[in-house]
Amino acid sequence: ACSSTGGSSDGKKPGGKLVLGFAQVGAESGWRTANTKSVQEAAKKAGVTLKFSDAQQKQENQIKAIRSFIQQKVDVIAFSPVVESGWDTVLKEAKNAHIPVILTDRAIDSEDTSLYATFLGSDFVEEGKKAGDWLVKEYQGKPGEVNIVQLEGTTGSAPANDRKSGFADVIKGDPKFKVVASQTGDFTRAKGKEVMQAFLKAQPEIDVLYAHNDDMALGAIQAIEESGKKPGTDIRIVSVDGVKDAFTAMSQGKINFDVECNPLLGDQLMELAKKVKNGEAVERRIKTVEGTFTPEQATAALPTRQY
Ligand code: AHR
Repeated sequence: ACSSTGGSSDGKKPGGKLVLGFAQVGAESGWRTANTKSVQEAAKKAGVTLKFSDAQQKQENQIKAIRSFIQQKVDVIAFSPVVESGWDTVLKEAKNAHIPVILTDRAIDSEDTSLYATFLGSDFVEEGKKAGDWLVKEYQGKPGEVNIVQLEGTTGSAPANDRKSGFADVIKGDPKFKVVASQTGDFTRAKGKEVMQAFLKAQPEIDVLYAHNDDMALGAIQAIEESGKKPGTDIRIVSVDGVKDAFTAMSQGKINFDVECNPLLGDQLMELAKKVKNGEAVERRIKTVEGTFTPEQATAALPTRQY
């Protein structure tokens, strides 16, 4: 799916406006929808012609979109890579065409850092650590094993890899924490529910669910309730994102802790796009500032939460 707002579809620059090709991951989560809206609104506000493409969580679609942006001779390409590896060829093509590339939200694992100008997004390892820190505190001084099930994000994606390793790094300090099952739920509600159903069947005792995003946690909550258990009480839940629906679940006691991941990257992205187009220096890594939420904090934030 490719769409263009505010300009001609052949990539020509109406009135000298900056043309930005943005290859989005998909529409897999509430976070992603908020991120897309932020980028689209910011482009309008900044007078940037946005060529938007939705890859439906498939790397091959994203590569196609980037190639099409190169062909259309856009000024700048931005994308949020579905997975971390496999980008060198297409990004070399962009480099040869002298089109600067900005990574947003997710990183790539390429050793050739000349393939992109900057990376704007969260520190996912830090997010995983924050989830782990909460768990350690929560069970401090409590005897007995803590059986954890983990719903991982999209296999091979930076947030899945990093949230898993950050969390593991923290909990490995105490052998009472045991990850008894861990599987991908692809960052979606439907998959989160399905995999949680399987966990509930296979694991007689689950104390904690760690979900790499809120949508999977929300799907899992349905599975837990349908199994006759109480989410947040019988099974404690720690998740990542901080979307409104998760805050609602927190206000009902169904999620115990949420680590924020900020999707509102649009304004910063437009600023960066203008700078890299003009050949101005930009920082190589720009980290998003984000916090964490207890149920009380989430309930208080709910009325003004934007996404
Ligand atoms: O890359 C950010 C992650 O992608 C968000 O945590 C998740 O909800 C989204 O799908």
